Order: sequence, then C-alpha cells, then structure tokens
Amino acid sequence: MPVRVLDPAAPAAAPARAADVVPVQRLASREAAVRSYHAAYPKNFVSGRGSHLQDAQGARYLDFFCGAGAMNLGHNPPVVKAALVEHLQGDALLHGLDLETPAREGLRQALDGVLVPRGLDYKYLSPGPTGANAVEAALKIARRATGRRGVIAFTGAFHGMSLGALGVTANRQVREASGAALPDVTFFPFPDPRHPWTEHSLAHLEHVLDDTHSGVALPAAVIVESVQAEGGVNPAPLEWMAGLVALCRSRGVLVIADDIQVGCTRTGTFFSFDAAGVTPDIVVLAKALSGVGLPLSLVLFRPDLDVLGPGEHNGTFRGNQLAFAAAAVTLPLLADPALGGEVLAKGALMQDLLRDQVAAAGIDATVRGRGLILGVDLVDTGRDTASRVQRECFRRGLLVEAAGRHDTVVKMLPPLNVEHADLHEGADVFGQALQAVLASPS
Ligand SMILES: Cc1ncc(COP(=O)(O)O)c(C=O)c1O
Repeated sequence: MPVRVLDPAAPAAAPARAADVVPVQRLASREAAVRSYHAAYPKNFVSGRGSHLQDAQGARYLDFFCGAGAMNLGHNPPVVKAALVEHLQGDALLHGLDLETPAREGLRQALDGVLVPRGLDYKYLSPGPTGANAVEAALKIARRATGRRGVIAFTGAFHGMSLGALGVTANRQVREASGAALPDVTFFPFPDPRHPWTEHSLAHLEHVLDDTHSGVALPAAVIVESVQAEGGVNPAPLEWMAGLVALCRSRGVLVIADDIQVGCTRTGTFFSFDAAGVTPDIVVLAKALSGVGLPLSLVLFRPDLDVLGPGEHNGTFRGNQLAFAAAAVTLPLLADPALGGEVLAKGALMQDLLRDQVAAAGIDATVRGRGLILGVDLVDTGRDTASRVQRECFRRGLLVEAAGRHDTVVKMLPPLNVEHADLHEGADVFGQALQAVLASPS
C-alpha cells in the first residue's frame, strides 16, 4: 500500500467517528483500578492541537494539564510532527537500543546546543524512557561514584514509582503501595512558608552531616526538585537552592537535580535551577524532552561521574528513535531564551489573573509558581475543595490537576506557547468553577 503523505501543517484530522471510539465504560471494565487521570477527565479524547483537546462528541477542552507536563509545546506542534513524518517516511529505525543512528546523532547535537551556550560540560546517558528510570540511573551513579549508600530527599518530594525512585518519594500512600522496604533514604524538611521552622532545614542538614553522632551516615547524594510539582507547586527559594548546593559541595555530597517536570523551560529558564545560579552534579530530565510526549529521559552528569560500565544500566527501550528525532527539533525551540522570557511574562500574568479570581471568590488562598507552573492552594477552604474545583473546571471544559498533600492545590501547566487569550479563558473558567464549588458545600 502506498504511504499516505501527511501534511504536518494541515488542520487537525477529523475526530474519529463515535462508532470508532471504544466507550469509556467498556475500557474501564477490563482495565485495572490503578488508572487515575481517566477518573479526573472521563472522556474519550480523539485529537489535540496546541492548547486544546477534542473529545469524541466534538467538545473542545482547554488543556492546562498537558500530559502532566510532557507537552510544553502544546499538542501536535507542526514542526515536530514534520520531523516525525520525515523519520517514518525514510524507513529510519524506530527501535535503536544504544546503536549508532542518525537520530542518536541528532539528539547529541541538539543537547550540545543546550549545554554549550550555558557553559555546561555534562556527559549524558539515555536510560529507560521514563523519568523514574532516569532517577534510578542517577542514584546508581551517585552511589557508585561515592561508594556510599545513603541519599537525602525532602518532604513533599516526588521522583517516580519504581523502587529506587519511590525510596526518595515522600507520599506515604504510594510508598506503602510498593509493599517493599525503601531503605537508605533520610528525609529533611523542604522549605514551606506555611511552616516557618522549615527555614532552618539547611542548618539542620548541615548539623546532621557534620555531627558524627547524628545517626545518619554521610550520604552519596541529595536529590531535590527546585519547584516541587506533584508536592503542590512549591518553589524552593533561590537562596535556599544555592545554599543547599554549596553545603553539599563542601561536604563531598553530590546534588541530583530532578528537572523532570520543571525543566525544559517550564519555569522560564531551560533548567529550573539556572535562576539559583547553581550547577548540580547530576540532572535528570524526561517528560517534555521530545515535545510531543514520546517517551524519553536523560541523565546529565559531570564527566568524572561517568562511572557505570557498559551494560550496567541497560534496557530494551533506551533508544526510542522517534523520541530522539522529535527531541532534536524540540530542544532548540525549548532552549531559546526568547521562549523563556515569554514564559516568565505569561506566568506573571497568570498569577495575577488567578489572584483576581481568588479575590472575586472572597477567599484567602495562596497563588504560587514559577514561570508556567502555577498552583492555587485551597487547603484553607477544605480538604476536598481543590479536587472539586478540578472536576468543576473539567465540566466547564478546562483540564487542571489537583496536587499536593491530600490534593489540596489546583495545579496548572499550560503549554509554554499558550495564547494570552487562552490564559484569560483558563483563569475565568477556574474562577467560575471555584465560585460554583464554594456556593455548594460538599
Ligand atoms: C519531579 C518528577 N520526577 C520524576 C517523575 C517520574 O517520571 P515518570 O512518570 O516519567 O516516571 C515525575 C513524574 O511526574 C516527576 O514529576
């Protein structure tokens, strides 16, 4: 059969006919209960373009969830689609392990384009395709390089669902779901303005590292998100991040920056920690790397930390060639400082719009974020308010997430190239949903 030439700039394909779409109930009946996003957004989504999704009935949704932060350029960005079509039409490899291929070279060059102008001399490896697998590899590197086992993580942290990554994840429910011991990790308080004593978390960490009777062995590494995303959109103060890196460096403890959700210009700079002026020893990236949600993760590390031998972090799906081809065109777009500037401006606008909506609803709720990761903390209006607002937003055509402890924070991740009009619309829908929820007690 001849290959049909797809024009990536063509209008979105007509949504599948309702008859082609498996009803949600039928899917749900055979699938395990472990699904979760589907419950928050219970529709069959058949197409996506930019900031919008369309369901099987033709209803349109504004997407401020964006695949949990995987779609920083929105859905089906034409230039990335074009690269994928070209890759497919050329019969290039789709599965590549760590074989040498043009797509692999393309990724290498694109990464150089990110790192060299920033003066960063990282080596990198592409582990299994998930963020969690990158975290596993980063922990393995840190332990091998230092010969130590312990790791310091922070309260509120989220680093993934495989055992090593869960070990450094704070959420009790998902830890307990593993049914396994998650050893060798000590948690310290992440800074939280609601709990002023957490200001002293660095002093506490310093004391524990230096006190030979602290009961905590000198760790291999500290793993940190400079903005906790799943933890409820908690940005670490920049001076705290700088202090953490300086402290660790002075004690020979490696710093692993988890930029899986807030890297790739989500916060206005390519790496979220750029704003703190620090250079972590190891960085993990995933989610938005390919620009279209294709699975790809990377571990960047100082050249002297290239300590894993051939085959010591193997995996069948380390070389997703389509993801590499997509990342080769996505990375230069994401790393463009002009986009970063736009993200900061749009983030500031969105914070203002959300504060206006909170004020109009007559409640006292913190709006926080950095760049285009935004959170509205509704904990003071009741434990279920944020989840109800999430559902009400969806009913009104807007996808947002509920995050943080007990899902009390409404979290928004608009595409970085979102239109201003969409930000206004999203904020308005959020405000209407908030007022509707407040008017009808649960
Ligand atoms: C900060 C952070 N680290 C790690 C992960 C795990 O990534 P993945 O779901 O691709 O395994 C996530 C996922 O949400 C994340 O937000």
